Amino acid sequence: MTTVSVRSASGPYDILIEKGLLPGLGPSLRTIFPSATRIGLVSNPVVWGLYGDRIQGSLEKAGFRTVVALHPDGERFKTMESLMALLTVFLEARWERREPLLVVGGGVTGDMGGLAAALLLRGVPLIHMPTTVVAQVDSSIGGKTGVDHFLGKNLIGAFNPPRAIFADPALLATLPLRERRAGLGEVLKYAFIGDTALLSLLEERVEELAGEKFDGILWEKVVSLCAVDKARIVSEDEREAGERMLLNFGHTFGHALEGALGFEGILHGEAVAIGMLSAAAISEAASIAAPGIFSFMKSLIGRAGLPVAWPREIPFAQIQPYLVRDKKTSGGQVALILPEVPGRVRILREYDTNLLPNGLFS
Ligand SMILES: NC(=O)c1ccc[n+]([C@@H]2O[C@H](COP(=O)([O-])OP(=O)(O)OC[C@H]3O[C@@H](n4cnc5c(N)ncnc54)[C@H](O)[C@@H]3O)[C@@H](O)[C@H]2O)c1
Ligand SMILES: [Zn+2]
Repeated sequence: MTTVSVRSASGPYDILIEKGLLPGLGPSLRTIFPSATRIGLVSNPVVWGLYGDRIQGSLEKAGFRTVVALHPDGERFKTMESLMALLTVFLEARWERREPLLVVGGGVTGDMGGLAAALLLRGVPLIHMPTTVVAQVDSSIGGKTGVDHFLGKNLIGAFNPPRAIFADPALLATLPLRERRAGLGEVLKYAFIGDTALLSLLEERVEELAGEKFDGILWEKVVSLCAVDKARIVSEDEREAGERMLLNFGHTFGHALEGALGFEGILHGEAVAIGMLSAAAISEAASIAAPGIFSFMKSLIGRAGLPVAWPREIPFAQIQPYLVRDKKTSGGQVALILPEVPGRVRILREYDTNLLPNGLFS
């Protein structure tokens, strides 16, 4: 078991990572909430169908009664309507403020369930049990919660750090292979922005992580390394004033690409992979990195089973408006996060805008 602690304005919390921790969930929650009689569960039908019985069994054995609220599966249901439906379940059950919500699922469930916990009775204790790669290495950590608005993704939300995070990498075994590989996009991001131990591990074993066969021990190692990285960064910079920006590596072009494609046909981690290559192409064009970083990254990203070509049907004119709309824009120019050498990036706040079209590599 790896325990990673996160500092937050609302108090510290631990991330517990262990392959096979699920059965111990009930006793662990009993330690955190010694006198609670009920736990609310937020999930979706896919995840709940796979793990609901085992989770509920563990909680009931530890003496908790449960109230389950499921939202429909998919990003298009990460909405105020779904959020309201979740809140209604707990209000109808006459929820009390000290009764916790345990949110079990990927980033969609985590973001929406986390916001539900912030809003219900002005805030009830929140516990995350992330079940996708993206959620275990990224979205459950750091306290960002939210839902989408038709004007844009994640535009409605709140900071709501959890009381604890329970990550069981064994649960990743049932994830569709494409989702697992897309999660590797975010894993590669931690390696490229500074985790050289992770980078070496990926250089050695990325095919195993991206392959049909699932290696829980290897995934436990990878999830732990990434969780340490994210925990360190958000502990130092919870509100995204400085270093947390590095986590946006590959996201400027990635988000723009997702936007131009209308969020159809591409997964977020795939877009991030392409976005990281865009940053490498710009970095070489601007002579910030020596030639070679692009092909180094392309090789590793390709070995992870992720796309390594910019979609031909999307020309620069089409992504330009989305680059400007990036939430990280300050005063007009989008800050660029560019690789210098493998494992090191630099933030560029002012630059010649003629550099941007180089991001559309071929
Ligand atoms: N809060 C943050 O800091 C943060 C960071 C990154 C991403 N996000 C958000 O996360 C979301 C994406 O998260 P995601 O990639 O986890 O997508 P997701 O939650 O949609 O999950 C992907 C798919 O996998 C299924 N699934 C989940 N766990 C499974 C399991 N163990 N076995 C089988 N299937 C399983 C889900 O039902 C879903 O169909 C986006 O909405 C994004 O905005 C938030
Ligand atoms: Zn991301």
